[in-house]
Amino acid sequence: MYKIAVIPGDGTGPEVTAEAVKVLKAAGEKFGFKFELTEFDFGGERYKRTGETLPDSAVEELRKFDAILLGAIGHPDVAPGILEKGILLKARFGLDQYINLRPVRLYPGVETPLKDKGPEDIDFTVVRENTGDLYTGVGGFSMKGTPNEVAVQSAVYNRFQVDRCLRYAFEYAGKYGKKTRGKGEKNTLALCGKTNVLTYIYDLWERAFHEMGKAEYPDIEREYYHVDATCMWMVKNPEWFDVIVTGNMFGDIITDLGAIVQGGMGIAAGGNINPQGVSMFEPIGGSAPKYTGKGVINPLAAICAGQMMLETLGEEGAAVKIEDAVKFVTANKLESLQAGKMGYSTSEIGDLVAEKLCD
Ligand code: IPM
Ligand code: MN
Repeated sequence: MYKIAVIPGDGTGPEVTAEAVKVLKAAGEKFGFKFELTEFDFGGERYKRTGETLPDSAVEELRKFDAILLGAIGHPDVAPGILEKGILLKARFGLDQYINLRPVRLYPGVETPLKDKGPEDIDFTVVRENTGDLYTGVGGFSMKGTPNEVAVQSAVYNRFQVDRCLRYAFEYAGKYGKKTRGKGEKNTLALCGKTNVLTYIYDLWERAFHEMGKAEYPDIEREYYHVDATCMWMVKNPEWFDVIVTGNMFGDIITDLGAIVQGGMGIAAGGNINPQGVSMFEPIGGSAPKYTGKGVINPLAAICAGQMMLETLGEEGAAVKIEDAVKFVTANKLESLQAGKMGYSTSEIGDLVAEKLCD
């Protein structure tokens, strides 16, 4: 029995979350585990009603669950930053979810904008640090509103944060790298940084990376790419990548590129992981207000977030089955991954995955 907190959130969040839950329940029935689901209404509507985002008491309550499933956060009537900082980032920081894990895998039948690239080429994972960097909010204004206004926002990392992220990434590369999966001759971890300009932050990352790799993970091949070059190679030669580790800000940017390369926001999922605590799984797209309530949004990203949740909970067999069912649906059923052009409604896609899972 797994205790799961469900935060459907805003816009299309509730629609896609319902399909993820449908698939999780089907997996539980087949593999012999159950869920106790508790729903929370954090999001734009609640904020508009009560002025509350994610109260401290809620963070404490969320700690008691085995995992959190999140739909989407973002509301057209709420100024940018309020819900993102108040809910999403507050949960990530408050629960110390220090890893943002984002697989970039092209499933069969899914169209990629990259010419002549297929599922064997687009198959890597980004391990994004999730608690530091420009996201810490260190900085401020002076002389705000005057012609001399100054704004400062600092990228902040300490060795402890860098080391724990690198350790997770090395371990992940050993467990899920291309060699382990029979897809290559080596397991490779690439550090994505900017050592030619950010000579403090990425100097720290680079030293820590090689020290740890040399001393503790000699079998994992180490590579280094500047972030700008990473973007270039992700488009030109995505097959070069296996596992990429990077800081929070670069990780945010390169995983949007990754999402589009793997077929778009309809399929891209991520996990905010605290390996010692409570993790939170989400489709990485937003709340898509214009599609809300129409039953046209693609729920596969939310379903894949549920699949990542099961993997993290240790239900690896069920997780593999869900991934296989999603691959079957992309390969044989969907006309496109785009909202409104899938050939099926949101809930029909949930049904297709659940049915395939059970056969
Ligand atoms: C993401 C999002 C968030 C981020 C925003 C909504 C705060 O872009 O999950 O990638 O920047 O991390
Ligand atoms: Mn982002």
